[in-house]
Amino acid sequence: MTTRAVITGTGRYVPPRVVTNDDLTQWMDTSDEWIQQRTGIEKRHWIDEEAPVGTSDLGLEASKIALERAGWAPEDIDLIIFATLSPDLFFPGSGCLLQHKLGLESTPALDLRQQCTGFIYGLATADAYIRSGMAQRILLVGAEVHSTGLDISTEGRDVTVIFGDGAAAVCMEAVETDQAVGVLGSVLHAKGSMAESLKTDAPASREWPRLTAEMMAERRHFPHMDGKAIFKEALRRLPEVTKVILKQTGLTKEDIDLYIPHQANMRINQFYQQMMKLPEEKVFHNIQRYGNTTAATIPLALDEAFEMGLIGKGSTVLFLGLGSGVTWGANIHRFPE
Ligand SMILES: CC(C)(COP(=O)(O)OP(=O)(O)OC[C@H]1O[C@@H](n2cnc3c(N)ncnc32)[C@H](O)[C@@H]1OP(=O)(O)O)[C@@H](O)C(=O)NCCC(=O)NCCS
Repeated sequence: MTTRAVITGTGRYVPPRVVTNDDLTQWMDTSDEWIQQRTGIEKRHWIDEEAPVGTSDLGLEASKIALERAGWAPEDIDLIIFATLSPDLFFPGSGCLLQHKLGLESTPALDLRQQCTGFIYGLATADAYIRSGMAQRILLVGAEVHSTGLDISTEGRDVTVIFGDGAAAVCMEAVETDQAVGVLGSVLHAKGSMAESLKTDAPASREWPRLTAEMMAERRHFPHMDGKAIFKEALRRLPEVTKVILKQTGLTKEDIDLYIPHQANMRINQFYQQMMKLPEEKVFHNIQRYGNTTAATIPLALDEAFEMGLIGKGSTVLFLGLGSGVTWGANIHRFPE
């Protein structure tokens, strides 16, 4: 018998406020046509300006659903892994805030800052903890509140139209089995030389002081992206990492029931599908409804794919993504029969 890390519950939560592409035109020079053509996005959810909530609040709602589906009480969790690039506070991490909101007193909480690849790094980390015996039940959360940090003027339109707020969570459990189930493999990468191509560089501990009116006037507290460089890198790395993980796990691309890529741009994922010669229905998209929710996109898509009946018991799913860092990677997970 081998210890395997198996996903036993999923949940998602997005704030109720919907912001359509047309809504964005009141603040910036953009159009529904441009956004849909270039990205596939039709709308996204943003938190309510009048009653703002934090990333851990969205994570809490998603976690409650995942816990219920896994049949766990919060006390059953022996590690929280929280992936986000938009933590509630500069520090401490959102994992600690979530731990308290779950009513827990000393359960460890680990934050991951891997941006769009946060869930992929998180799944690999949870798998390593479980297989080493360091944890038996892990709550892995991907959550973001982007809306409070976006430049909603025309100057920021290339980035702002892409991002949405949202959260999703999975419960991961140690299962003793002879079957090849749970996380079958993970491949992780980073390329810090491309760090400048997608970043928010203020407040910054390398500046003295960390945030000034001048920095804000230069809009350095908003995200900036070299969209073309990221696009190009994604089209190189996503097929590459897919081939590596299939080889590593001894699987073929036909063995995968559903490919769940990070939702950064529908065109990237459509090119990926064509480059990999995959049938259209095997590559999941939900960017139309949510935009890019960064660390939340993959678990959010997983939860929806379950609900839509696209996957179920026995399904093999490949997760993959690339984002700021740049970081990229993939995991394969098989659900038990
Ligand atoms: C952001 C992205 C959609 C922009 O698409 P693009 O085809 O590269 O567009 P460009 O940046 O070249 O801009 C083309 C034109 O549209 C304009 N434009 C940019 N954003 C716009 C918007 N929201 N509405 C209307 N016009 C816009 C630009 O100003 C530019 O105008 P110009 O030709 O007059 O200078 C695309 O680069 C992308 O998706 N990149 C990858 C994003 C990603 O994966 N990020 C990682 C995870 S977060």
